[in-house]
This record gives sequence, C-alpha cells and structure tokens, in this order.
Amino acid sequence: MAAARGEFTSRFGFLMAAVGSAVGLGNIWGFPTNTASNGGAAFLFTYLIMAFALAYPALMAELIIGRHARANAVTALKSISPKPLSRYAAVTVGFVGIVTVSFILSFYAIVSGWMMAFFLDPLARLLGLNALAGWLTTDAELRNGLFVVAFMLLTVSIISAGVRDGIEKWASRLMPSLILILFLLILYVFTLPGAMQGLRAYLLPDFSLIADPTLIVDAMGQAFFSLSLGVGTMLIYGSYINKDENLPVVGSLVALLDVGIAVLAGLLILPAMYVAQNNGVQIYDASGGLIAGPGLIVSVLPSLFNTMGVIGLLISFAFFALMTIASLTSSISMLEVPVAYGVENHGVERRRAAMLIGLAITLISLAIVLSFDPWFDRVVTWTTEVSQPLLGFCFCVFVAWIWQRNEVLAEIKRGCPMAENGLFWKIWPFYVKFICPLAILLVYFQ
Ligand code: PHE
Repeated sequence: MAAARGEFTSRFGFLMAAVGSAVGLGNIWGFPTNTASNGGAAFLFTYLIMAFALAYPALMAELIIGRHARANAVTALKSISPKPLSRYAAVTVGFVGIVTVSFILSFYAIVSGWMMAFFLDPLARLLGLNALAGWLTTDAELRNGLFVVAFMLLTVSIISAGVRDGIEKWASRLMPSLILILFLLILYVFTLPGAMQGLRAYLLPDFSLIADPTLIVDAMGQAFFSLSLGVGTMLIYGSYINKDENLPVVGSLVALLDVGIAVLAGLLILPAMYVAQNNGVQIYDASGGLIAGPGLIVSVLPSLFNTMGVIGLLISFAFFALMTIASLTSSISMLEVPVAYGVENHGVERRRAAMLIGLAITLISLAIVLSFDPWFDRVVTWTTEVSQPLLGFCFCVFVAWIWQRNEVLAEIKRGCPMAENGLFWKIWPFYVKFICPLAILLVYFQ
C-alpha cells in the first residue's frame, strides 16, 4: 500500500530543490576544470549546445514522466509501458537507475566529506587547534571514513524529514546562500593580481579543439552529470511537482540556472588558480596541464588561501561552505531515489527506509575509502560514463517510442493549456525521438 506522497509547496521550492540537485561538485569543480583543460571557451560553447540541445530535452522527459505517474522511476516507467516486454524493460531501467545513483552517492559522499573537513579547518585554526587543523586537511582513511559518516548522517536526516520539511525546506535555505557566497567570492577574487590571466584562460576560445571527440564526449558527460539525468532523480522530483505547473517553463529555468551557476563557478575557479600561481603556488602538473583532479580543490586552492593570511581563513571558510552546500543539496536528491522506491513499493516507513539505505550506501563508501585505488575511479567511470548516458538514452526511448504521444501532450497541457501550438511541442517530440537517442549513442561509442 502506497504511503501518502509529498509535494513541493511552490514553484520556488521545486526550483531550489531541482537546481540544488543539479548544482553540485559537477558544476563548481568539474565544469571549470574541464573548461580549462579543453580549450577554454571552445568547451564552454560545446557545453552550452549539449546542455540545451541534448540534456534539456532529456530533463523534460524525466520531469514529464515523473509528474504524470506521481511515482518512483520503477513504477513510473512501468505505468507508461503498454506491453509486457516494455514493462520488463521499464523495471530493469528503473532498477539500474536506483543502483547507479546509489553508487554515485557512495563516491560523492567521500568527496563531500573532504569538503566538510576543509570547511572545519579554518575554524580549528582560528581557535588555535593546529594539530586538529593538520588532521582535518591530511588525506587519511580515518578522516575520510569519519567524514563520510558525518555527511551521510546529514543527508539521511534531511531525507527522513520528507519532501516538504526536508528537501524543500533545506534547499530553499541553502541554495540562496550558495548563490550569495559564490558572488561574493567572485567579486573578491577579481580584485587580486593574476585574476585577469585566469579569466583569459577561461574565456578565450581555442577553436582548433572544437571538433575534438574528447571535448565533445566530455561536454556531453558533463551536461548529463550536471543536470542529474538518467538515474531517476529528476523523475522523482518531477513527481512532486504540482499538476498546475508549466513543465517546459520550469524545466528550462532549471537548465538555465544550472548552466548559469556552472559558468559563474568558472569565473571563480579559473581566476583563483592564476591568483594562486601569482602567489607562488604550482598550478600545472608534470605533463604541463592545469591541475584538475582532487589536487585542485584539496591542494591548489588551500595553498592559495594559506598565502592570504587572516583573510585567507575567511575565504577558505566561505569556499568550503559553498562546496558543502552544493554537495548536500545534490546528495539528498540522490538518496531520495532509492528511498522513494522503498517507501512506495515496499511500504517501508520513510525514516526507516532513509536510515537503512543510507547505511548500506555508507558501507559501500567506507569500502571504497579502504581501497581507494582503483575502486574510486572505477565507480566514477562505471556510473557516470557508462551507466548514466545509457540510462539517459533509455528515458528518451521510453518517452518518445513507448509512451502514447497523446498522453505525453495531455500531461504537458495540464499546466500549459496552449502547449500544442507552442514552440516546445513543435520541436521537443522530434528531438527526444530521433536527435537525442542518436546523438547519445554516437557520442557514447566515440
Ligand atoms: N548534478 C550533480 C552535480 O553536478 C550530481 C548528480 C548526479 C546529482 C546524479 C544527482 C544525480 O554534482
């Protein structure tokens, strides 16, 4: 028996939750460094095309299916599948989504734990607890394990409180703070010597790279990961949207805000890297490329903050607060996917489901912490590069090839009565039917 379902109370609430899911480590860490190492604005340009031409239509597919079915991905995909075979495929895709997002959360929690540790470091130093500060910023299994547990406890406690009192309430508080901190940090970094050189590296295009297959694959992967696609996150958030809401409009607002915040994050990270170089910090690795992996956030930027004296403590605190907020509003959307399934399909009480599933994911994270090499990279590649694009492909196939076209239109028309004559309905059905699946496969097999 299905429990009573939650619903977002306002458009703002939904937007903050969905943008909170979308804006995460992918935007603030992945996007700027991908841009810097892939020909600056050439990558930005390709990314914008991928985000609006491929990821936005796929996002709409998830939101529409979710709101129509008002259920988790397994049930929702089943409910739009008329034949036994497609119902079988529906259950498979729904489950693979649940497993994929749980593994994404298992590596995400590790990185988010680092962000929390670095967030506490300036406080420890301010209090003169230098040994503690050293422990917080030194990579070690014990520290990583403890912070995975702390981060997962936060995630579980928000999800336990439900859609309105957990997800919506916290996203509506945290996301405006994130945007404010981001703006303040950009303004400050722009005043420092070296920033303009970073801005040039970010914004001057190297168009010779634009047809480079790696650039295109990276841009698509980045767009899918950033919009939280394929794993049922946007589907479940869509299932909590009010029936009167205009989906094409809210969907485009989510995509615009996500892309906008990624572009803004680039205005912070790249200039900050060159300010760091100006202050004597190494920003290129041995092969001559910009340091982009974990080293960027846990070594280059902290070294920069260390060169800035007392103000560096404040900036470090604000920066890692930003990263922790971005992580948390994404991690709650990940945990909601399996929890909603447990609650709706197995009648488990929400708090219990959140705790049990949270515990299982924490154990996976701890196993990865203990055998970081090679498991961390394997899990990242398997989930974000293999599974996520394929699942995105399947969602497009479900909405365009399996679901009845008139039902799709009817769902869109609920909040947008004139949809049939609008631009969205002229373009989107063709797009999700042919362009998106083909383009995803093409890029995938590159
Ligand atoms: N979109 C998030 C980010 O950019 C990651 C994410 C992936 C969230 C999949 C939910 C589901 O970091």
